[in-house]
Amino acid sequence: MDKILVHGGASLSGNVKISGSKNSALPILAATLLTKEPCVIHHVPDLSDIHYMLQILSHLGAQVERASGVVTVQAEKIITEAPYEIVRKMRASVCVIGPLLGREKEATVSLPGGCVIGDRPIDLHLKGFEALGAMHRIENGNVKVFAGELKGSSMSLRGKQGPTVLGTDNVMMAAVLADGTTVIDSAAAEPEVVDLANFLNKMGAKIEGAGTRRIVIEGVKELHGAEHSVIPDRIEAGTFLVAGAIAGKGVTLKRVDPSHLTAVTDALTRAGFLLKIEGDTITISPNGVWKPLELTTNPYPDFPTDMQAQMCALLAKTPGISVITETIFPQRYMHVSEMKRMGADISLNGATAVIKGVERLSGAPVMASDLRASAALVLAGLQSEGITEVNRVYHIDRGYELIDEKLNGLGAHIERVKA
Ligand code: EPU
Repeated sequence: MDKILVHGGASLSGNVKISGSKNSALPILAATLLTKEPCVIHHVPDLSDIHYMLQILSHLGAQVERASGVVTVQAEKIITEAPYEIVRKMRASVCVIGPLLGREKEATVSLPGGCVIGDRPIDLHLKGFEALGAMHRIENGNVKVFAGELKGSSMSLRGKQGPTVLGTDNVMMAAVLADGTTVIDSAAAEPEVVDLANFLNKMGAKIEGAGTRRIVIEGVKELHGAEHSVIPDRIEAGTFLVAGAIAGKGVTLKRVDPSHLTAVTDALTRAGFLLKIEGDTITISPNGVWKPLELTTNPYPDFPTDMQAQMCALLAKTPGISVITETIFPQRYMHVSEMKRMGADISLNGATAVIKGVERLSGAPVMASDLRASAALVLAGLQSEGITEVNRVYHIDRGYELIDEKLNGLGAHIERVKA
């Protein structure tokens, strides 16, 4: 397995171009199954999760072509059973259920288990499909969802932890071809849901209200091919902003949508950094002070869970006491024990992390446990003395396009050691 060696202490400056959003591209690629006609998707990041999704689409019968960030999919004839070997590698595979159910009125997908960031049920997805008239059966580790016909109806997709992003995507993708009107209350309002709705509308769907808590979908008979450009990845952007905060002398992010990053830029401003927003760029620079923070993760537009680990890395060396509370995935703290091995002073009390900023961190061999935790360990390495060896780099490659090359382009000293 590849590993990444981060030589701490380098200062970062210059420009970095943000890639297309992984969490937008995945459901958008799944949505191409809703039509027999070709769809062309631009700004698709080159990530292992995207490769898995393209493999699933091919397995389901679609013709898939990819050339430097542009993916063309034509799903003229499809089957409805997704392969276990690929689905088990990526939880987001569940978002093929919605389009398969919408188009073919059935889908069989291996049921995702938990993952290191916590329990990952799909009960809300199934609740939504049921509201549309579908039934489901769990057999041999698979979930089969099927319907004679899909009928629009009203539902709430609110769970114990709030709305569900992929659940909203999934139900929206099934409902676009249902008979009549569907109303999703307590819908997720993340920019990735809006991006998917915009793509579906380009395909001929009639969706209103995406980006609010109530989405209304007028079912149509069929969808057609469409061309779309995926939005910039707000979590990759947030991660580079934290890198700029930790080690930056002025780092400019290009091709971002600053309106998607308000919670993160507000937090970094409160933490003492200077942020300048101009069009589709954000520049972060030091301001001579680092201030502790109190942060709580919540659904969009609040502070994203996907940025929690990276903020832990910043706050680990911020003087004073910071407090982070994780409300979406209360156990998403796998990075904490690794950061402690680097000298961080973090104590966990349930879903709350209390971080006492330390003067120095020291490089250590650390284990990546999930995508964002791994990125956070690279960030911690940037501000540590000596070398931080991040193992199990495949977690990072699931969601960050060329993170080592991009950071090195800003002046970092990171080596990738091929297994
Ligand atoms: N939940 C349920 N029942 C469900 C679905 C979700 O109880 O049927 C709970 C979850 O356990 C969690 C909360 O609802 O407590 C929110 O989960 P959500 O369904 O919104 O998560 P997701 O759609 O599976 C997406 C992102 C995650 C991101 C979360 C939250 C993709 C591919 N994944 O997951 O991204 O953390 O939304 O914003 O879009 C990442 O990129 O590193 C990542 C994990």
